[in-house]
Amino acid sequence: MRPVLEVEDLHVHFPTSRGPVKAVDGVSFALQPGERLGLIGESGSGKSTIALAIMRLIKPPGSIAGGRILLAGTDLLQLDEEAARQRRLAEVALVTQGAMNALNPVIRIRHQLLDGMEAHGVQLSKREAKEQLAALLDSVGLRPEVADLYPHQLSGGMKQRVCIATAISLNPKVIIADEPTSALDVVVQRRVMQTLRTAQEHLGAAVILIGHDMGLMAQFADRVAVMRAGQIVEINDVREIFARPQHPYTRLLMDSLPSLDQRDSLLRSGPPARPAAEMTTP
Ligand SMILES: Nc1ncnc2c1ncn2[C@@H]1O[C@H](COP(=O)(O)OP(=O)(O)OP(=O)(O)O)[C@@H](O)[C@H]1O
Ligand SMILES: [Mg+2]
Repeated sequence: MRPVLEVEDLHVHFPTSRGPVKAVDGVSFALQPGERLGLIGESGSGKSTIALAIMRLIKPPGSIAGGRILLAGTDLLQLDEEAARQRRLAEVALVTQGAMNALNPVIRIRHQLLDGMEAHGVQLSKREAKEQLAALLDSVGLRPEVADLYPHQLSGGMKQRVCIATAISLNPKVIIADEPTSALDVVVQRRVMQTLRTAQEHLGAAVILIGHDMGLMAQFADRVAVMRAGQIVEINDVREIFARPQHPYTRLLMDSLPSLDQRDSLLRSGPPARPAAEMTTP
């Protein structure tokens, strides 16, 4: 199958008084349709910079110094800014840790979702809009009534679900989730990740999940790429990474963790009863 996204020898530089910081230093990987790729590595290793480069959101004086980013075969870096923006807006969605705080406080959830769709040429009658909204909210485990609320009336987990709904509303082929749950408590974190996974499977979208939490990676990812100092030092099937880490740095990461079995038993303790106030569906 043709990969939905191919990153080839990507370089991203930020100039500093001491010379350029090579934030991304020759990264290559391919993402198959529907695949879940985890991207882990220490702070500053270049994970978010890869996400921003794919979105063409690197701000000057930073720049993409080389490489190719192929989206279903088209090199995004060869398109002009506007064409690339249109292309990736429709096909690649980004959900970040801060996304939920970027919801406009004076706009009801209904319009946060519909405005984005309308801005991309989706035209809906009143009835269609209502049905689509309900389906979209349902796909992220929220009740239809949530459409009438303002962001401040939602919990953090609910807001992040709205952000996932926004991300999937345009049927992207790729969802990049950059630490989407790190601002949430662990119980809500697990539910939101489950939501992301269900929505992703429903859409058949591929996901790049960026994070530090190997437990979350073990649960979510099919493959894991380990980054260090702007480079991918190892990329492999998640089971292989856990069972037989090849690179010394990956081993170091694994040594600091409980084993998968221990981890499973930790994770299976089950969530506590759901607060009645959360307007989420099972
Ligand atoms: N706007 C910028 N100007 C200068 N340097 C930058 C800029 N953005 C990122 N960098 C540098 O690029 C490198 C990679 O940063 P990046 O944010 O991609 O790391 P990360 O892996 O996402 O880290 P974290 O896990 O903390 O989110 C770091 O050395 C960082 O200092
Ligand atoms: Mg980051």
